Amino acid sequence: MPFSEIKIGRLKLKNRFVRSATWEGMAEKDGSVTDELIELYKRLSKAEIGLIITGHTYVSKEGKATPRQLGLYKDELISGFKRLVTQVHQLGGKILIQLSHSGRFGRKEFFGLTPLDLNRLTKKEIERLIQAFCLASERAKEAGFDGIQFHAAHGYLISQFFSPLFNRRDDEYGGSVRNRARFAEQILSYVKKRLGSEYPVLFKINCQDFSSSGLTLKDSIQIAKILANEGADAIEISGGLLISKEKGPCRPYKGPYFLEQALYFKEQLEIPVILVGGIRSYKDAEDALAKGIDLVSMSRPFICEPELVKKWKSGAREDSKCNSDNLCLKSVKTKQPVRCWKNEN
Ligand SMILES: Cc1cc2nc3c(=O)[nH]c(=O)nc-3n(C[C@H](O)[C@H](O)[C@H](O)COP(=O)(O)O)c2cc1C
Repeated sequence: MPFSEIKIGRLKLKNRFVRSATWEGMAEKDGSVTDELIELYKRLSKAEIGLIITGHTYVSKEGKATPRQLGLYKDELISGFKRLVTQVHQLGGKILIQLSHSGRFGRKEFFGLTPLDLNRLTKKEIERLIQAFCLASERAKEAGFDGIQFHAAHGYLISQFFSPLFNRRDDEYGGSVRNRARFAEQILSYVKKRLGSEYPVLFKINCQDFSSSGLTLKDSIQIAKILANEGADAIEISGGLLISKEKGPCRPYKGPYFLEQALYFKEQLEIPVILVGGIRSYKDAEDALAKGIDLVSMSRPFICEPELVKKWKSGAREDSKCNSDNLCLKSVKTKQPVRCWKNEN
């Protein structure tokens, strides 16, 4: 089952393994693609991963969140991505770009631009942001990506709109679930119109924020249904906020920790559901798929061991070497390219 084919919209994948979006810290200062990044993506493409999702890529300058993060906020950046996508395709891989905006979690100390507070945005500014997501999507299609994933999880801008913890607006973008979903819905509707309804568009969302007054499971399922109705092609289920120490998206233990929640989404949606978080063994993957999950996504295991899926394909059944210690996250603070510290200590 993990090595059976699946389709996301019109996108045909050779197996059920996804490399979840992972910031690499390997882009140039202006967000452009480097040879170092291309080498990493070539390695991932050769490693039999069914679908690769890039690290979060900012759609406008003030939406940058992490050092040496990928950006696609201007046309001049398209050519670098074209080079990257071409290499992946030549090696038989499939690749989506993850588009993102940090919202209030921009880093003035890193980049000098004031982070953006969604509660202070005028309608014109909201329209400008929707445009920024759409223009970046058009650039991504031009670069040859097989589709787009919008980062709507972990407390970044789209998920700030979803979450009553951050969203205190009293207009059509705040209050009810319907209103909190509107920003994402408008981006999706616009992108589908501009790029064609066939072009795959996915969302990564929080099943819940795991924070008092944050997004609840019930509201998140309703948001997922709204997005599915508007044409979203698949949903990746994550959870928790980047500001949360214990209940964030990268938890310090092994075993799929959002499986139960992802299965609720699966019950209510007709589009493919992708599970991420804590998958560390072939059996974890096999069990989740047997329960009805459509694809299994991993991040830290591929930092540790990019060839993990290839190993499993050859018949080996060893667990991932990743012990979920989160030392790889130290790279963000030290502004170094991401790496597994375990392999080097
Ligand atoms: C170093 C690092 C960078 C990450 N970058 C992103 C990112 O750019 N976008 C995103 O949606 N999630 C990002 N994540 C979260 C992962 O995609 C994933 O949701 C999380 O690590 C749980 O999956 P895992 O247990 O397989 O690592 C990152 C995680 C790590 C450790």
